[in-house]
Amino acid sequence: MRKKVDRRLAGEVLAELLPGAAPEATELLLKDLHLLTRDGDLNADARRKLKQIRHLLQLLGPAVDDALARHADPIVVDCGAGKSYLGFLLYLTRLAPAGRGRLLSIEARPELVAATAERAARFGCDRLAAVGGAIAHAPLPERVHVVTALHACDTATDEAVARAVTAGADWGAVVPCCQAEVARQLAERGPREPALAALCAHPWHRRELGSHLTNVVRALALEAHGYQVTVTELTGWEHSLKNELILARRVKRFDRAAQGRLDELVDRFGVAPALVRTLPPASGAVPPAPPDPSG
Ligand SMILES: C[S@@+](CC[C@H](N)C(=O)[O-])C[C@H]1O[C@@H](n2cnc3c(N)ncnc32)[C@H](O)[C@@H]1O
Repeated sequence: MRKKVDRRLAGEVLAELLPGAAPEATELLLKDLHLLTRDGDLNADARRKLKQIRHLLQLLGPAVDDALARHADPIVVDCGAGKSYLGFLLYLTRLAPAGRGRLLSIEARPELVAATAERAARFGCDRLAAVGGAIAHAPLPERVHVVTALHACDTATDEAVARAVTAGADWGAVVPCCQAEVARQLAERGPREPALAALCAHPWHRRELGSHLTNVVRALALEAHGYQVTVTELTGWEHSLKNELILARRVKRFDRAAQGRLDELVDRFGVAPALVRTLPPASGAVPPAPPDPSG
């Protein structure tokens, strides 16, 4: 069955959905990213997707605005960028109108990196650069200001959080993807305390707990490194299980109490998540010993 097409002028709708962006350029780019139909119409799917994106931009936009207010040439890094639609839209709605700031889009798959570079050149986004490679190792300037990662797979989100912290980013914003690493560690070792062990006795519960624990570790690690953290639901993404936004704003150098809670949490659950292994503990504390595999 043919999907119902919204016949309102796409320009009008785009101005409503993506305020700040020039409607004509935005329409062309959204068509190119297949976020609009080839005719520039908004069918039900495209409209739903754009609403989700608008919601995300509303949540991330203030971070980019803050970086623009504080820095002459703020650098926004989008990690695990895929087709870079988030990067392009942040560029169009924030950096292009401001006439300054750069967006670096990190992606591991070379064909996506090439497509982003080509698209940026074609649409005159001359301050949007595609950076190839793993998030953990991609070349970045020493200081960056906003780090985002939307559905970066498994521990790629941890790589993004670690890059945000080590680059002293003012803001970090991650919407984690599916998570497997900690569930595996819970199966291999897990908590010693029987009541806590009961939380992850079944594979389904291990998966859920592993994912929740991973995100709690991310939030605590950010707090330990001086960030004020808010965790919210990305409403409008109800169809997706990957519906949690961890938004962090750097407000101080470190928080020893948060580092203490993080150390205790991973110790009691007998896990060593990627972020804990990667990031040096805040405030120069001794890193927690990884769990002893022999039990
Ligand atoms: C689920 S897609 C999300 C893409 C995009 N952020 C979005 O929301 O449309 C995850 C992307 O992250 C990339 N990726 C996964 N692990 C990565 C890593 N360690 N370093 C760089 N890119 C990675 C994948 O190649 C893929 O394009």
